[in-house]
Amino acid sequence: MTDNGMSSQEYVDFQKFLEKACGIVLGSNRHYLINNRLKGLMNEYDISSITELTRRLKNSNNVQLRKQIIDAMTTNETSWFRDQHPFDSLKNTILPELKKNSSLRIWSAACSSGQEPYTISMTIEEYLKNNLVSFSNNIKITATDISPTILSEAKKATYDQLSISRGLSAARQKMFFRKINNEWKLNDEISRRVTFKEFNLLDSPVSLGKFDIIFCRNVLIYFSQKNKAEIIKKFAKALNPGGYLILGSSESMPPDLKQCFEMIRSDRGIIYKTR
Ligand SMILES: C[S@@+](CC[C@H](N)C(=O)[O-])C[C@H]1O[C@@H](n2cnc3c(N)ncnc32)[C@H](O)[C@@H]1O
Repeated sequence: MTDNGMSSQEYVDFQKFLEKACGIVLGSNRHYLINNRLKGLMNEYDISSITELTRRLKNSNNVQLRKQIIDAMTTNETSWFRDQHPFDSLKNTILPELKKNSSLRIWSAACSSGQEPYTISMTIEEYLKNNLVSFSNNIKITATDISPTILSEAKKATYDQLSISRGLSAARQKMFFRKINNEWKLNDEISRRVTFKEFNLLDSPVSLGKFDIIFCRNVLIYFSQKNKAEIIKKFAKALNPGGYLILGSSESMPPDLKQCFEMIRSDRGIIYKTR
């Protein structure tokens, strides 16, 4: 019996369920995490213990409960201009190279509460002020996440003082947001380029179309090497020739996929270009 009442077998079954459903590998001894993340759901379903919840999960075809468990188990940590260098690379390397294209399609895969796709849109807005580009009226950012709860937050494009202060300069806050009561609403010129969709990275992205740039940051770190490699292979197919992939700072390209991408050092970081 483990310290939240689950048997070791139930814990292993829960780990397997989670990885199969969404790719997230839950390490050992993360019982506190399961407790914290699932206690709201247990109240909602009037379930008295994690053991009972995992039994229900095993014995029923309750699709809704399964979806809600995955939703609750996701880690949605994010911030504006996170790590800075991907957005510097976008402005200094990628946009100047793609500026003759007639359209620009960007995918923010695992977008959490919207800071990543909206930061991309702000970076483009700043670039457009000083540069002539062919795609200025044809820019679309598709932002996806597995969590419907975090997507509904993202769609509001409205943030409290704490979220707004994480990574956003006072100048950008003033330029891109307006204050409504105690919250900050993103201007339409930035939010209108972004479309949100629920999407599981384990699924085929064919229906999302083709992209010039894919950002997939700080999510594959939770996945096995095998799932990570399969997802990056799908990104290579979803990118137009010469398209760019940007991974998180602590995420590297699996060795057997290096032939699909050229590694480019740019603005103190690394970006990948399809060969
Ligand atoms: C830590 S956040 C990263 C957000 C943003 N990319 C950033 O770097 O700031 C990870 C996001 O990945 C999402 N996620 C986890 N598993 C996923 C999956 N299988 N498919 C799509 N999104 C997933 C979570 O819901 C969460 O919002």
